[in-house]
Parts: sequence; structure tokens; C-alpha cells
Amino acid sequence: MRRLPRYAAPLLLTIAAAVVGSPWAPAQAQEPPHGRPAGEIPATLQPALARAEQGMNALQAGLLARLREQMTSGGPASAVSVCRDEAQAITARIAREQGITMGRTSHALRNTANGAPAWASALVRDSAGSKAAAQGIRVFDLGDRVGVVRPIGFADMCASCHGAPSAMAPAIRDVIASAYPRDAAVGFVAGDLRGWMWAEVKKP
Ligand code: HEC
Repeated sequence: MRRLPRYAAPLLLTIAAAVVGSPWAPAQAQEPPHGRPAGEIPATLQPALARAEQGMNALQAGLLARLREQMTSGGPASAVSVCRDEAQAITARIAREQGITMGRTSHALRNTANGAPAWASALVRDSAGSKAAAQGIRVFDLGDRVGVVRPIGFADMCASCHGAPSAMAPAIRDVIASAYPRDAAVGFVAGDLRGWMWAEVKKP
């Protein structure tokens, strides 16, 4: 058997400690890696959950309204440019109006700027490929803040831009390929978990 190099033992110990978790880690590391179901959180976290949900409702409504408007007036090929050009700005504006930090993320990203916040990354990764109905709101106590995630389901109206690539209009495929060369957000079918909305709310 080949001998391991001299640095292997400390390296392996470091990796093991990172995986197992160290006793000196901050309190929030005690949170379950997938957070807690909304129905199982202490009453002290309820106001933050309510604010997060209010913000998420506003974000969902804002994005959907703009998407529907453009799909109706210009069709999916023009709507894809609107998503490309406006989704980030709409998200930032609504988060500002709501006074909280918010975004959308997924295990299969189109825009790599939509990566999950660190506290939600295990849940986002482990829920990949599941059905939206199998998921629910999850809450994370982050010390001075509360993190909340809510599943985003895939519906038929999403298919023109996130469905099977072979069924997508060439004009849409072109816009996506040039704007997002590493796009992974295709191949979904109705009922799939498309991703998550997330919010961070300061504790009062
Ligand atoms: C007209 C094309 C189009 C349609 C229809 C569409 N999307 Fe998207 N979607 C995009 C584009 C473009 C982006 C990247 C936006 C950005 O740059 O932030 C995106 C990003 C996302 C993201 C953020 C995560 C990521 O992968 O970057 C989610 C979540 C998402 N879409 C869900 C949906 C859902 C759910 C529907 C149906 C209700 C839908 N989309 C319909 C074009 C579309």
C-alpha cells in the first residue's frame, strides 16, 4: 500500500472537523441543517416569519405580474429578455421596499448570481429533484436574524423558458445561451420543485 503524504493526516482531520462540526462553532450551527418546519418554531420567531412571508408574497406578485404582462404583450421570446434584464432589479427593489434581504435560488441555476445563502445551501442541495408539494416553508434561527425559505413550484407557464430544451423556441434558446452560458435551469416538468424564495429578517 502506498503511504499517504505527511500532510494527509492533519488535512483529513480538518475535513473531518468541518464535516462533523466543532464544539466552538457559533450557536447558529446548532440549527438543523434543513431548518425547522414553519409549524414547529417558537412563538418568538413568528413575527419574523410573518414579515418574511409578506415580503415573499410581494416579490412573487411583482415578478409574476411583469412576466405575465410581457408574455401577453410580446410573447415568451420578448419576456425572456425582460427576465434577463429586470429580474435582479425587481428583486432588489421589492426587498428594499419590504426592508428585508430577499432573493430566489435553486439547485439548478440559470443566473449564478442567484446562489443560495450559506444557511440555506444544504436544504437547496438536498431537495434537488423533489416535487414542490413535498416541500414547505422552513425557518432558520440565525442568531440576530431569522432565515426563511419557501418552495417555488414549476407550472406550465414556466415551460417556455425552463422546460425541455428540445421543445423551446429557438429564439428563446438563443437569448438564454448567450446571456447564461452555464444555464442549468431547464428540463423541469409541472409539479417539480423549481427552486426557493429566501428571506432574511432582523430580529426585533
Ligand atoms: C420568458 C422566460 C421565462 C419564463 C416564462 C420563466 N422564467 Fe424563470 N427565469 C428566466 C430567466 C431569464 C431567469 C434568470 C433571471 C436572472 O438573471 O436573475 C430566470 C430565473 C428564475 C429563477 C431564479 C433562479 C435561477 O435559476 O437563476 C427562478 C426560481 C425561476 N426563474 C422560476 C421560474 C418559474 C417558477 C416560472 C414560472 C412561473 C418561470 N421562472 C418562468 C426566464 C423565464
